[in-house]
Amino acid sequence: MTGTARRVVALLCLLIGLPARAQADSAVNDGLLPNGNFEDGPDKSQLNGTVVTGRYSIPNWEISGFVEYIESGHNEKDMIVAVPEGARAVRLGNDATIRQKLSVTRRAYYSITFSAARTCAQKERLNVSVTPEFGVLPIQTVYTSSGWDSYSWAFKAKHSAVWLSFHNPGEEEDPACGPLIDSVAIKTLYPPRRTKGNMLKNGDLEEGPYIFPDAGWGGLVPPIFEDEHSPLPGWMIMSDTKAVKCVDSAHHAVPQGARAVELVVGRETALVQEVATVPGRPYRLSFSVGDAGNGCRDSLAVEAYAARAALKVPYESRGTGGHKLAQLEFAAVANLTRVVFRSFNYHTKPDGTLCGPLVDDISLVRGRRRAARL
Ligand SMILES: *[C@@H]1O[C@H](CO)[C@@H](O)[C@H](O)[C@H]1NC(C)=O
Ligand SMILES: *[C@@H]1O[C@H](CO)[C@@H](O)[C@H](O)[C@H]1NC(C)=O
Ligand SMILES: *[C@@H]1O[C@H](CO)[C@@H](O)[C@H](O)[C@H]1NC(C)=O
Repeated sequence: MTGTARRVVALLCLLIGLPARAQADSAVNDGLLPNGNFEDGPDKSQLNGTVVTGRYSIPNWEISGFVEYIESGHNEKDMIVAVPEGARAVRLGNDATIRQKLSVTRRAYYSITFSAARTCAQKERLNVSVTPEFGVLPIQTVYTSSGWDSYSWAFKAKHSAVWLSFHNPGEEEDPACGPLIDSVAIKTLYPPRRTKGNMLKNGDLEEGPYIFPDAGWGGLVPPIFEDEHSPLPGWMIMSDTKAVKCVDSAHHAVPQGARAVELVVGRETALVQEVATVPGRPYRLSFSVGDAGNGCRDSLAVEAYAARAALKVPYESRGTGGHKLAQLEFAAVANLTRVVFRSFNYHTKPDGTLCGPLVDDISLVRGRRRAARL
C-alpha cells in the first residue's frame, strides 16, 4: 500500500468507527515470551567462548554490548550456575542490552516477570523499559536459596508494537559482571477498581504479576512509588531496594482466594495504598495475617498503620499455613490516608530463603462512631 492509500484506509476506518488495525487479535498471550527462556541459542559460530558475537544471534532477541550465553553447569568463578528454566540463560555485562519486539493492545496494562540472579557486581541493577516507561530494578538482594528470583515490572502500552528492553547500566571493572536473566514472561493486567464493600483497590491482592507455574518461589514486586503502573495494581511498594513477594495457592497456603503477599524483608519494605478519606471520620481496616505454609517457622508479626493509629498483629507460625483476622480502627486526619503494612522482623527459612508473614484480604470501610467504641 502506498502512503496515500494507507491514509485513506485509516480515514475510512475512522469514519466507520473501526480500529485501523485489529490489535487485540495479534497481541501477545500471557506466559513465556517467544524464546523467553533462551533455550534457542546462537550457533557455535556466533559465540566466542560464552560471548555472543552477533546482534541477531539469539532467536527472537536483539542484543548489544557484552552479552554472554550461559549453559547450566557453567563454572562461574568457582560457582556452578544452575538455570531455573531449561538449561540456558543470558548474562548482561556492563552496558549490555537485550530486547524483543512485542505486539500488545494499545492502552492495556501489562506486567513483565523475569528470573534473575546476581553474579559478581557490587550493586547489580537492571533497567527494564518499554519506551517511554522504564524501571531500574535492584537485583542485589538474594531472596531465594537457589540464587534465582523472579522480578516483576509493569507498563501501559502506548503503541501496539513496543520494544521490551533489559539494560545493565553497570560500570564494573570486570565488564562481564552483571545479572543473569532467564524466563521472561508477560501478563495482561486488569487494574481493579474500588468495589462497593471496600475502599481499597485490589484489597484481596488477586490481581498481580505473572507467577511461573513451575517455580515454587512466587514473584517479587520491587519498589514502586505509584499505584497506576504497579505490577500489583493499586499498591505501592515503599523501599530503597527491597521487594515484597506475591505467592499463589498453587504453591502456598493463602488465607483467601488464589493469591496473597508475603512480607519478606522486615521493616525495610512497606506495602502501601493511599485512599481518599474525610478528616475526623472513623474507618475500619480489616485484614488477614498468616503464613504461606512454606516452612517459615517463627514468631511473625505484621505492623499496620493508618492515620495516627497503629496495630501490631503477632502470629505464631509453624510454617504449615494458617491465618487470623485483625482490625484497626482509626479516625482520618487528612483527605488522603495511607494504609501501610510491614513485617515487624526479618525471618529466614533453614535453607536461607527470606520469608515473613502473609497479608491478604485487606478491606477498608467507613466505621460507625458507636462501633468504634466497642
Ligand atoms: C575472542 O575473544 C578474545 C578475548 O576477548 C579475543 O582476543 C579474540 O580475538 C576473539 N576471537 C574472535 C574470533 O573474535
Ligand atoms: C532506562 O532505559 C530507558 C530506555 O532506554 C532510558 O530512557 C532511561 O533513561 C534509562 N534510565 C536509567 C536511569 O538508566
Ligand atoms: C481537604 O480538601 C479540601 C477541598 O479539596 C480542602 O479545602 C481542605 O483544606 C483539605 N483538608 C485537609 C485536611 O487536607
